[in-house]
This record gives sequence, structure tokens and C-alpha cells, in this order.
Amino acid sequence: MSKELMIERIEKAQKEIEAKRETVQQGKFRQDYHFMAETGWINDPNGLIYFKGKYHFFYQYNPYSGFWDCMHWGHAVSEDMIHWEYLPLALAPSEVYDDHLKGGCFSGSAIEHDGKLFLIYTGTCNNGNGFEQAQCIAYSEDGIHFEKYEGNPVITAPEGVPTDLFRDPKIWKHDDTYYVVCGASKNGFAQARLYKSTDMFHWEFVNVLAESRGEWGYMWECPDFYPVGDKYVLMFSPMGGKERTSVYLVGDFDYDTGKFFYTISGEIDWGFDYYAPQSFLAPDGRRILVGWANAWDWMPFWKDWGPTYQEGWCGFFNIPREAVLAEDNTLKFIPVKELQDLRKNKQEEADILIKEDEKKELRSGCVYETEMRINLKKSTADKIRLNLRMSQGKKTEILFDLKRAEAYFDRNNSDGWSKGVARCPLNLMGKEHLDIHIYSDKISLEIFSNDYQNNFSCNIYNVDDDQKNEVKAIGGDLVIESIRSWELEKTMK
Ligand code: FRU
Repeated sequence: MSKELMIERIEKAQKEIEAKRETVQQGKFRQDYHFMAETGWINDPNGLIYFKGKYHFFYQYNPYSGFWDCMHWGHAVSEDMIHWEYLPLALAPSEVYDDHLKGGCFSGSAIEHDGKLFLIYTGTCNNGNGFEQAQCIAYSEDGIHFEKYEGNPVITAPEGVPTDLFRDPKIWKHDDTYYVVCGASKNGFAQARLYKSTDMFHWEFVNVLAESRGEWGYMWECPDFYPVGDKYVLMFSPMGGKERTSVYLVGDFDYDTGKFFYTISGEIDWGFDYYAPQSFLAPDGRRILVGWANAWDWMPFWKDWGPTYQEGWCGFFNIPREAVLAEDNTLKFIPVKELQDLRKNKQEEADILIKEDEKKELRSGCVYETEMRINLKKSTADKIRLNLRMSQGKKTEILFDLKRAEAYFDRNNSDGWSKGVARCPLNLMGKEHLDIHIYSDKISLEIFSNDYQNNFSCNIYNVDDDQKNEVKAIGGDLVIESIRSWELEKTMK
């Protein structure tokens, strides 16, 4: 156990950041308004919490290169989830159970307890036979400097759960009891395991909240469990879950038995670049989700992490979204209202008719927000195509196929780097309108549609200056009631 070693490693990492910051931040791929680390590699959002008047984001972090390696926890604070101040790293590998060279401080979450900020994370080390993972505690008086609990780890893998598939504790409090859900695997099937404690240090197994029967893979990473409206939601990122990166289940939960019965399953995002979302409660009661805008290469489609490593960094978070329960108990994921503060130079048009096979030019550029409302009753088109981020032969195509009831995000010609077509079912039955809401940043497109239920987050690496965007009517005319768009303020470096 060495408090000094963690301090030493944090200082070493800070020096590394300091030395590289200026060069990295000149990179042409840096995002304008999506949360990124100062330098280096970032993956999962960790420990998201509103604590003592500020939003805290922690993140899986390797300050030493643009690739995943020994995991530290980065840390930043904000008053609005948009403008960020970086703080010193919160956690660095320093103990046998989260050893530097062989593992690290894997994902976890945060909670306030006894006036202190507590983190629960997965210590990962190599015991000679592969990774051993167990859940560990760290705490802080000031919310900046953390100390690891000397009795770590506090939850170890039970019989039958492989020690390398037991991680990502998400914590919450109900009445006077703390609860944690952990991702696990048993007999080759993924599980979400529920534990409880009254003091944060002694944990007791309650139940398996839910289990895959194969359809959602052999391991659930970053499970999260929370109430929305009068329902409970379990969400997770499945390993071995085919094309699914972020699944949610909605159902009822009984604290007495620890049983969760779900009746609804859905996808938070259908794009290639949305993974390991974590939720937290905003002070006004909104349930907000933040995801890692990438995914691992065990996804069955072509996958890498893009060319940003050439600039000494990789990874950012998707824009924060609010989870809202729809009438049929499915979920909508709506970009948080704080993002509207970024808007400038509004353009607006109403009552637009696009004749069959014609196009309408939209706001040009690559950093913008555009909203449009299509009147389905008045339109005769059977397909709506968005040609976005077009320049010098590059083009990203989003197709809403109204006849086939499917939507597609095609990035095969986006940038000479990315590949793949993401798709999702598009249920417009009985609907009068199709609303499309686009957030575009230097290297990403987030397309929300159909009441924020058909969402695609995909990274594309076209940063040319002269990019154009347009919408096209196919197989008939298109009636657009309104188009509104904005430039967006740059908040990141
Ligand atoms: C998910 C994940 C977690 C793990 C972390 C390691 O992206 O694989 O399961 O804790 O990343 O960085």
C-alpha cells in the first residue's frame, strides 16, 4: 500500500500532459465542443456526478499516448457540462490490485458519502494467469485529491465468475443503503450483479439483476441502473453482442427481493461510436447520459479508433443526453438543453418544398447544429437523403427509407479512413412528422431522429474547410415545415 506511489505517478502523468499539451492541442482533428482529454487516450466516462455545485467528469485515461494502456482516471469540472476545467488526475495505478504495468484503475462511478466524494472502481492486475479484477474504493475530502481505501478490494469475483470478467461498478443510494451493479460473466453469459452496503466498505451480494441468454453477449461492460419516471432502466455495453453497443432494458424493480423484470429492450444509439454510457442525476432531477464516442474492435464491423493518434490523442465523449420515458415505456435520448448556449448565427427557413430528385442546400461547414421538421403526410417521397460533410469527393450519407422503415448511416466515403453502414429500424407508423436533429463537430456527426429514438453517433474524419451539406428528396416530393441551424461556439482546446 503506498499513498506516495500514487502521488508520484500522478505527478509524472501531469508532467507528461504539460510537455505535450501545446502540440496536441494544435491538432487539426481536435473537436470544438465535445469533451476531450487535454492529451492522450480517453475511453469510458467514469464517476459522473454533480458534487458541491459542479459537474465532475472522470474518465479512463492514458496520458502517455494516443492508445489504450495502463489506466488512470482523468478529471475535469464544469458548471454547465460544456465549458470545462481540467483538474489533476484523480487515480493512478499504484497498488498490487491495480498495478501500473499490467492493468490499472478501470471504470467505475462516484457518490457523496459522509461529506466526501467516494469513487468505486475496478482494480485490475495481472496475477500471472491473466487479469484479476475486483472493486475498490477511493475517497476525497476536497473532491480533487483522492486516497485509496486501505482495505481494498471491497468486492471480489464470486465462484463461477471469471476474475477477468468482473468489473465496472456503478453506485447509487436508496434510503440508507448503497447499491452497486457490476458487469460479470457466468457460464459464458453476461450478467449484471447487484450488491449492497451501508458503509461503502462491506458489501453483500443481493441478486443477479438481469442475464443474457446469448442475445446480449457473454459480458456486460459498464452496466448502469436507475429510475426514470415510474420505471427502472438497466443499460450496458455487451461484449459479444453482435452489432449492439449500448442496450437498455426498461422494467420494474423490487428493492426487497432485488428482482428486476423488464418488458422493453432498446438501443440507446445505433451508430458505430457510442459505448459505455454512464448516467448521473443533474440537480434539477434530469437523468443524463454520457457515452464514449468510440467502441472496441471486438465489434463485428470494421473498427479502429481513427487517425487522431497521429496527433497524440484519441477519444472524446458524445454530447450529454437526457433519458426520458416515452408513453410506451421506451426511452428517448435528448441532447441536454445546456448545448443551446453554444448556438450563434441562427438561420431559419419555413415551408420548403423539394421536388422529386431535387436537393436543398443546408448550412455549410463542419461545426454546426441543424434541426428540421419533415411533414410526412404532405410528402410523397419514399426516401430522404442527407448528404453531409461533402468536400473534395468525400460524402457522408444518411438515408431515411420510409418504405422499408429503416435508416442508414453510411460512412464508406466519408473521409478515406472510416468504413461501414450503420442501420436501424425506423418506426413512423401513424406519425405526422419526422424530426431530424444534427450535431456536427470536427470529427463527429450525431444524428437524432424520430423523437430521439433513432440516434446515430459516428465519427468521420473530414476536416476540409469547404464542406457542404444538403437534403435530397427521392421517389417523390418532400415537404419540410422548418429548418433551423446554428454555428456552435468552440469551448474545447
Ligand atoms: C469499457 C471498458 C471497461 C473497462 C475499461 C477499461 O470500454 O472495457 O469494461 O473497465 O473499458 O479501460
